[in-house]
Amino acid sequence: MWLPCGCTSKYVASSFARRILASYLHVSGRSRCNVAAFMPEAAGLEGVSGRAALRELSVSNSESFWAAVARHRLCWSTAFHTVQDCDLSRGKIKWFEGGKLNVSVNCLDRHVHTCPERVALIWERDEKGSEMKYTYGELLEMTCRLGNLLRRHGVKRGDCVTIYMPTCPLAVASMLACARIGAAHNVVFAGFSADALAERIRDGEMLLLNVVCEPAVMNSEDVLFLLYTSGSTGKPKGLVHTQAGYLLYAALTHRYVFSYHDGDVFGCVADIGWITGHSYVVYGPLANGATTVLFESTPIYPDPGRYWDMVERLKINQFYGAPTAIRLLLNYGDQWVNKYDRSTLKTLGSVGEPINTEAWEWYHRVVGDGRCPVVDTWWQTETGGICIAPRPSDPDAEIVPGMAMRPFFGINPVLMDTEGEVLTSNNTSGALCMAQPWPGMARTIHKDHQRFIDTYFQPYPGYFFTGDGAYRSEEGYYQITGRLDDVINVSGHRIGTAEIEDVVNQCPAVAESAVVGYTHSIKGQGVYAFVVLKKGIDVQEADLSRQLNGMVSEKIAKYASPDFIQFAKRLPKTRSGKIMRRVLRKVVESDLEGLGDLSTLDDPAAVQEIIQGHEKLLSKNGP
Ligand code: WTA
Repeated sequence: MWLPCGCTSKYVASSFARRILASYLHVSGRSRCNVAAFMPEAAGLEGVSGRAALRELSVSNSESFWAAVARHRLCWSTAFHTVQDCDLSRGKIKWFEGGKLNVSVNCLDRHVHTCPERVALIWERDEKGSEMKYTYGELLEMTCRLGNLLRRHGVKRGDCVTIYMPTCPLAVASMLACARIGAAHNVVFAGFSADALAERIRDGEMLLLNVVCEPAVMNSEDVLFLLYTSGSTGKPKGLVHTQAGYLLYAALTHRYVFSYHDGDVFGCVADIGWITGHSYVVYGPLANGATTVLFESTPIYPDPGRYWDMVERLKINQFYGAPTAIRLLLNYGDQWVNKYDRSTLKTLGSVGEPINTEAWEWYHRVVGDGRCPVVDTWWQTETGGICIAPRPSDPDAEIVPGMAMRPFFGINPVLMDTEGEVLTSNNTSGALCMAQPWPGMARTIHKDHQRFIDTYFQPYPGYFFTGDGAYRSEEGYYQITGRLDDVINVSGHRIGTAEIEDVVNQCPAVAESAVVGYTHSIKGQGVYAFVVLKKGIDVQEADLSRQLNGMVSEKIAKYASPDFIQFAKRLPKTRSGKIMRRVLRKVVESDLEGLGDLSTLDDPAAVQEIIQGHEKLLSKNGP
């Protein structure tokens, strides 16, 4: 371990941290005598009895709800004067203006003050059994040292720091160090190749640095981080999240969707380079003073029992993972699960893509022994935290397999028809939009507010458009049906087909390409690329396929690399020259009946060639 143990006694709270801690303790001490059993934050809200009424109020009187929750759950150095100032039609979103706080103080100092020896982070390293634990005191020290290091290197409040590191406590501390000194962070997903980088940082001057780092006093709407995610064009979007609203929303959803209670060990196995890692490995759990697991390995290393071995060893109470991993593990059989004691588990979560019924049932019946609620959580980088999930709801409220079901507090989903009208009935499908702002939503796209408006607010004026389609059941439950744009979801990773095409098209031999997703039994969706070569190019297709796969792996990521590459003489296009992806998708799904209207095609013979080429590829490579 790079930090000495027992260092908590050396911790000295800075004056700012002490001030806001005092105010926090005062508030929580007062409310403790008079709290609603389910949600202490709501104790002061008038006339609310029961969870359903509380959810009602969170939408009908969202200002009172969010004000009460924000006052209770966060530590402020200055109270906010305006709960919200939002105008969805202009993409203007501001929460808790006037309020001042520091996110790292909320995630660390206040817990160090009350329980310094509590474990904040369990680093589940690649080799099983080699986990390392870091108390809140230790994590604060590491954060302060890094904060001082960044300051020494001239990083100032308002700067942006790119973090490219493997999954390790230092990466978490780097995020918190940025928050401490008021710099925004931009975490870039890193593979193990970054080990060398981390090693160098670990070995540097760090240990000599002061363990006290005065936290910057930040405004609610200062930038906390940017996170790049795929859109339907070739250019990824840097979504911007700010301080108070994001932290509050991550903390509240972590507490109530997973029914997290003080002392629980929370195990979210997402990488911290994704929004799930930001919200449910780092910010949500730490804001709530939880013990959070930082998982560095893979679900099948050294064998397919890895997750459940970890659950037994670390005594995990809430496990949060991706459907793609569940589908993978299901194929290895129940014995890998049954070997381990999973009696500590209380809630199982799923995120990133739709979870099919078979995977859901297995997760529930085998992993959770039929006794743990499974929460299928729908949300996005843009939403900051979970928006639709079966819990919170009454303990005996039904949970339907494979459905996210119920909107969270303050979330007001609507479905739109193709004319842009709100669908009011149940048992209907439409484009999923949100009719009200909530504190966790992204504020803009870095350096491109117009794109933010065009993407999310212009398609349905007055609403936030998620890009997903959804079905609302007879009972009013929501089920996500998938993306409505050219974004595919491979193993829970969002990727724009245009991004892959951009890379493929950079190959000098390629004239043009079209990438579509297809249903894949493990990954959810796989990547299928159609490639047209330039005239007169004479290459071995197998060699070129390898080259293209290599380019995509290197420039985007391994998961984006095409599973199939079909070389074609031409692509089906409309007379105006637009590639008909709908047709390509149907061919790839072998749904020739569903090809639909081909009358706008420039040359219908192109489709026949594509179908034949597809059959040839399948017969060579299997399904
Ligand atoms: C998809 C990940 C179905 C959806 C947190 C969304 C889901 C995109 C679910 C966001 C779910 C996420 N059921 N689909 N429970 N969760 N998605 O930004 O298409 O990486 O728009 O955020 O993943 O992906 P992102």
